Amino acid sequence: MSEFPRRRSDPGRWKQGRPTTPRRSPPAKTPASNTAWERQAAWYDERQGQEGDDFHRDLVLPAVLRQLQAQPGQRVLDCCCGNGVLGRHLAATGVRVVGVDASPSLIESAQERAGSHESYVLGDAHALPDLLSGESFDHAALVLALQDLDPINHVLHGCAQAVRPGGRLVVVLTHPCFRLPKYHHWGWDEENELQYRRLDGYALPRRLPIVTHPGRDGNTASTTSYHRALPLYLNALGAAGWAVTASEELFSHRRGSKGRRSQAEDLAHREFPVFLVLTAERLSSAPAD
Ligand SMILES: C[S@@+](CC[C@H](N)C(=O)[O-])C[C@H]1O[C@@H](n2cnc3c(N)ncnc32)[C@H](O)[C@@H]1O
Repeated sequence: MSEFPRRRSDPGRWKQGRPTTPRRSPPAKTPASNTAWERQAAWYDERQGQEGDDFHRDLVLPAVLRQLQAQPGQRVLDCCCGNGVLGRHLAATGVRVVGVDASPSLIESAQERAGSHESYVLGDAHALPDLLSGESFDHAALVLALQDLDPINHVLHGCAQAVRPGGRLVVVLTHPCFRLPKYHHWGWDEENELQYRRLDGYALPRRLPIVTHPGRDGNTASTTSYHRALPLYLNALGAAGWAVTASEELFSHRRGSKGRRSQAEDLAHREFPVFLVLTAERLSSAPAD
């Protein structure tokens, strides 16, 4: 069951209102291959390759490794692991990784690319307790995936059940305050020679199709992203037994044009972050299933 009423008052917008109370039992399992990501798997695998794309290599993965602080020999759960790019970076430091993802093709790629410290499991993140059958982890990561999931309560709760008290969960989000596709845009203020960020929406929950690789001939391939305001993430983490202990905002490493606007563009890229990283600690009083 979704965290939000499904009735929509306009396209892309969920009805405003309080989130519905999450149920304790996990939702019925859907076939793992029945996700939009499976149709994008070849493109995503090519884009991430062995080491990750430039956003992963330069921004996302260094932040996740920094926040996880996983030590050699520790075990990390990589929930929604894609083709295992994080797992390979962790394994290179002696950490043992189990990755879970719903896309059979991405799991196959992760397995093919894996070293001896990594293993990968095909399945739905909403059903982690079934998939992991009681395995225990020191830490967990959810990298650029929570916004693909609805609801999120069972996933965060499943991570809490899998991680020992005191262990960390690192969540990376496309920044919900500044990077809402179709609603947030760059603009140019000619008079003040200023690049600004225009925000046409934030507080209302929204369900959005995301074109995954625009620009390719006739491409209409998309996945679904669920926009939530920041407190919904913080509250869902708390309700699942996670206390947020640290946070980072990651700014684009890419630089703009070389023209007269370049300085203003660079300044704007240093003002408005691309990603939000939340690090949470598993409370000893995490709710039992
Ligand atoms: C943007 S990709 C991120 C993958 C990886 N964490 C990374 O950083 O490259 C989102 C991933 O979430 C996975 N995913 C989406 N819904 C899922 C679900 N219900 N259960 C497990 N994985 C899911 C997709 O298959 C995809 O691999």
